[in-house]
Amino acid sequence: MAAANSHEPVLVLFTTFVVAAAIVLAPTTCTAQLTCDFYQQSCPHALQTIRSVVNEAINRETRMGASLLRLHFHDCFVNGCDGSILLDDTDNFTGEKTAFANLNSVRGFDVIDEIKATLNTYCNGNVVSCADILAVAARDSVEILGGPSYSYEVQLGRRDATTAVLDDANRNLPAPTFDFSQLLSIFQSHGLGLQDLILLSGGHTIGLARCTTFRDRIYNDTNIDPEFAASLKEGCPVNGGDNNTTPIDSTTTQFDTVYFKSLLQKKGLFHSDQELFKSDGSDSDNLVQHYANSPEDFKVDFGASMIKMGNINPLTGYAGEIRLNCRKIN
Ligand code: HEM
Ligand SMILES: *[C@@H]1O[C@H](CO)[C@@H](O)[C@H](O)[C@H]1NC(C)=O
Ligand SMILES: *[C@@H]1O[C@H](CO)[C@@H](O)[C@H](O)[C@H]1NC(C)=O
Ligand SMILES: *[C@@H]1O[C@H](CO)[C@@H](O)[C@H](O)[C@H]1NC(C)=O
Repeated sequence: MAAANSHEPVLVLFTTFVVAAAIVLAPTTCTAQLTCDFYQQSCPHALQTIRSVVNEAINRETRMGASLLRLHFHDCFVNGCDGSILLDDTDNFTGEKTAFANLNSVRGFDVIDEIKATLNTYCNGNVVSCADILAVAARDSVEILGGPSYSYEVQLGRRDATTAVLDDANRNLPAPTFDFSQLLSIFQSHGLGLQDLILLSGGHTIGLARCTTFRDRIYNDTNIDPEFAASLKEGCPVNGGDNNTTPIDSTTTQFDTVYFKSLLQKKGLFHSDQELFKSDGSDSDNLVQHYANSPEDFKVDFGASMIKMGNINPLTGYAGEIRLNCRKIN
């Protein structure tokens, strides 16, 4: 044993070197910039803390899971996943909250505030960024609504923006009136492709939509099941009722493939949804058909696309800040 002991320091040093090198070089599932274990030292229970607040919020109101998923999407598409959507307007800038796609529409800000306040206490200080909270809350929501067997590993280390720009939100968020080519091009402008467009649109498997976002479609579109259109008109008259809501798919609290199955039956709620399946034998059609019938593929591939979306232009290192209050800069 004496001989073995004499080698131990060398072995320990060597092991340390290998581990350190592995951490520096590891490509794994983490990207160069963000990592899965970013808060392991600074706030080891950050993820559990976020999960429990999200869980309570969804228990209070199931729709909140959908709202939190959408918040992360709308954050990432406007100058990257930097928490900019959370900033209230100030004298110095008009932020993103009044953009067409956000006004009277995005929700969940109170839950994000609750998560942030809880973390500031549990982490013994201001450690976890608002941008990361959005990413984790979105993942947790999907997982909670999709059942325990499903998950993807969320990437962390984003920092928060110190400004927000209304025009950028208006330019970068898709509208439900978009045609296929407009949808694909806005996704491509964010480094995402056709498959990401199909998969991430699958986020519409949960949540509700206001009449004003699908009225044109149910009265004027031709690529729509007539009975489906008729069934929606009572809750969404030609005039008035703009704020009346309806489920985006028929199993609106479950993260399943019914959204894709609905597209196959011309029962997409938004014009933009149905643009993904037009019975024209396109690649887009084939992907919708595939995911409609492959729940497991959908869940796994959706996670991969969420990670890609979550990697859009994060602020890292010394860029930006960790906001103390998600609604305003420090
Ligand atoms: C492809 C382009 C997209 C368009 C045109 C679009 C459009 C919309 C619209 C118009 C609404 C209803 C808003 C309202 O009623 O005020 C909505 C809701 C929603 N969207 Fe999208 N969306 C798109 C992509 C996505 C993506 C990528 C995700 C997430 C990965 C997503 C998740 C949601 C969710 C969960 C809701 C329901 C929110 C709630 O109930 O609070 N959407 N979307
Ligand atoms: C606006 O900008 C000025 C100058 O940078 C700063 O002193 C002030 O605190 C800012 N106001 C708000 C509401 O952020
Ligand atoms: C819809 O609701 C918003 C508040 O969320 C309100 O400001 C707006 O006036 C409502 N619109 C209609 C047509 O009732
Ligand atoms: C349907 O299309 C016509 C002609 O473009 C338009 O005037 C009308 O406002 C549309 N109806 C609805 C409910 O969107």
